[in-house]
Amino acid sequence: MSVQTRGSSSSYLFAARMDRRRFLRMALGTAGLAAVGATVGFSPAPSRGAAPAAEGGKLEIFSWWTAPGEVEALNALYDLYKQQNPGVEIINAALAGGTGAGGNMKAVLQTRMLAGQPPDSFQVHLGHELIDSHVKAGRMEPIDDIYASLGLNDVFPKGLLDNSSYDGHQWSVPVNIHRSNILWYNTKIFNDNGLTPPATWDDYFAIAEKLKAKGIVMAALGESSPGETGHYFETVLQSVLGADAYKGLWTGATAWTDSRITDALNIMKRILDYANPDYLSVAWGDVAEMVVKGTAATQIDGDWRNGYYKGKQFSDYSWVPVPGTKGIYSALADSFGLPKGAPDRDNAIAWVKLCGTREGQDAFNPLKGSIPARTDAGQSPNYDDYQKQAMQDFKTNTIVPSVVHGFAAKESWVTDYVNAMNAFATNRDVAATQNALVQAAADAGVGS
Ligand code: GAL
Repeated sequence: MSVQTRGSSSSYLFAARMDRRRFLRMALGTAGLAAVGATVGFSPAPSRGAAPAAEGGKLEIFSWWTAPGEVEALNALYDLYKQQNPGVEIINAALAGGTGAGGNMKAVLQTRMLAGQPPDSFQVHLGHELIDSHVKAGRMEPIDDIYASLGLNDVFPKGLLDNSSYDGHQWSVPVNIHRSNILWYNTKIFNDNGLTPPATWDDYFAIAEKLKAKGIVMAALGESSPGETGHYFETVLQSVLGADAYKGLWTGATAWTDSRITDALNIMKRILDYANPDYLSVAWGDVAEMVVKGTAATQIDGDWRNGYYKGKQFSDYSWVPVPGTKGIYSALADSFGLPKGAPDRDNAIAWVKLCGTREGQDAFNPLKGSIPARTDAGQSPNYDDYQKQAMQDFKTNTIVPSVVHGFAAKESWVTDYVNAMNAFATNRDVAATQNALVQAAADAGVGS
């Protein structure tokens, strides 16, 4: 099959460390190529209902999926797409690294969207990231027809439907549901040291202390760019506040001045004591490898790590909810929509539809580590034990929105939040960080 990868963005490590000059070159280069694509593949006559096989041209897909698990999952969707649309050339414009989740890709995307040169479709988190950054800005097409033709209003959970819709229309199709509040642990290290996975922060720090005495890092952390400390901290907030008060942080119902935020920062400060000391020079994307190699015992991260470990053929791992968050499912969803002016519009529609099908979701998610967004998917024998449990937990747990992964807050607030937590990783100043978080909420227009 013909799948191109733009520039050297297939190299995760390289892309994660890409310098600014190269980054800009890629932004301009991809824009130029998109303009070429527009002359090749643009089809002015929309044919949205019937999902005809696209007849030729290109399909340029933006994402930040460049890591083990992510690549295989994306390729599984591309394989299906090529079977259904054999004449279409897929341009895989994947780009790793940057601030927060997908920061480099989002910056290139924004340049292209502002220039009126969007890709055909792009990875975007459901919720505020989709609605505030793209829909309210008037740069997406409503896709109610796609929802109607696939019956999607009947198969997605209400919480997802609420977050893919705005102003009475649907704007994007979720391909998965990820969970952010998981503690992944190396089972060999735990077994060799007679440890059981922690249920509380007291358990966690007792284990961390035992391992420290043996020279083993408890918390694998990569904070060379803002992101992972913020990810750890959103799960600490969930544990300390509980589901309702955590949700209230993003609506103004819970004040960021609350003393429980201070408690959460103090827990985060202790976690930093047990992290790899070089975390300020390690990239988030490189951290899972520490658990694989056994140089760290645990990592708090989303269940894309499940996909990563499987992609690396690593099996000495298991998971528990982050201490204090049992019964809470911190959720996010990757989705694809239809930007206005997509150069290969029919091809893009066929892609978005594929993302919404059961077949597409059951090909993608077993490899990605996540669970399908469709409630009628998930029967495939390819789902692993983690995923089977996650599908159950999603039905019975209280769902809360991840902030770092775009669900809970608009992007400017997410950036302020991850920057505040990056500063905290450097200075470990609880009071100053709480003030910065209070200010971030105020700047986002959510009082405290
Ligand atoms: C998340 C995204 C996941 C995964 C992860 C790490 O924001 O939703 O699909 O890609 O970043 O790259």
